Amino acid sequence: MENQLRDIEKEAMEAIEKASDPKSLEGLKIKFLGRKGRLTSILKSLGGLPKEQRPIVGKLSNEIKARIEKAIGERMEALKGLASGPELIKGFDPSLPGRRLHLGHLHPITKILNEVCHVFEKMGFSVAQGPEIELDFYNFEALNIPPDHPARDMQDTFYVDDKVLLRTHTSPIQIRTMEKMAPPIRIIAPGKVYRCDSDVTHTPMFHQVEGLMVDKEVSFSHLKGILTHFAQEIFDRDTAVRFRPSFFPFTEPSAEIDIQCVMCRGKGCRVCSQTGWIEVLGAGLVHPAVFRYVDIDPQQYSGFAFGLGIERIAMLRYGIDDIRLFYDNDLRFLKQF
Ligand code: DAH
Repeated sequence: MENQLRDIEKEAMEAIEKASDPKSLEGLKIKFLGRKGRLTSILKSLGGLPKEQRPIVGKLSNEIKARIEKAIGERMEALKGLASGPELIKGFDPSLPGRRLHLGHLHPITKILNEVCHVFEKMGFSVAQGPEIELDFYNFEALNIPPDHPARDMQDTFYVDDKVLLRTHTSPIQIRTMEKMAPPIRIIAPGKVYRCDSDVTHTPMFHQVEGLMVDKEVSFSHLKGILTHFAQEIFDRDTAVRFRPSFFPFTEPSAEIDIQCVMCRGKGCRVCSQTGWIEVLGAGLVHPAVFRYVDIDPQQYSGFAFGLGIERIAMLRYGIDDIRLFYDNDLRFLKQF
């Protein structure tokens, strides 16, 4: 029985030394010293020993019990120290302040795009979408720009093949919407457009928002009211707006819309080429030829359409003079918004 006791002690000591966390130490305590533990069951069987042996074995088992208890206590202290003592983990000082986490945010172009859409949504326009890889038919033909029309020159097109291209404007969504929907129609269509062009004011990909309203008796005064309100929501409440006659094949009459220069307030500066005005939109009343392409009767219905460039508006709002900054992905630039 003495040998048995010494074996238990040896086994316990080895296990205690190996224990790597307080929980497994607790388990060892129960295993060796608990009410149903190994040592306890031996103590319980002392009664079966010859009389003269009982005190010897009893004494020995009490000593072993005390040594195991002590070893468990010491190991427990050591493990706790490991968990909380900074000096025990090299190079780590938990009292230092943490590193700041940088939170991302929306790209300035996305912000302006959302803002522009919101202004029109509040006026009852809903958002429509169309494909960026578009058919020549929707991008040009149905917008009254037949093959060989000189207006195709205004848009440096990326062609995929004879019939397929990267849309050069969001205007094809007008056609796609009128094909699917009967008037009354009131939509805006935000999205990416592509042109083979690159300098301080042009990138090969940029964003436009198209607008279209078709109903009975829609007139130029509706267009004027809505676009003036838009300009004053996006810029200043008292921003002056000017409508200039212009030409687009898909509208008649057509206009370009200028706002008073936001940099010099109309006095004349480099940004507005000393004119005091900056062009921000193209617009007009939907051409009857366009209505005929989508089977809407121009005798019964009229409508207006407009298109605006988001980058241009963002440049004016943030006072940025090089459009390419938006797409360089330089965090020093982007973090300012
Ligand atoms: N699509 C024209 C462009 O990209 C902008 C435009 C002008 C859209 C007049 C219109 C419009 O809907 O009526 O230059």
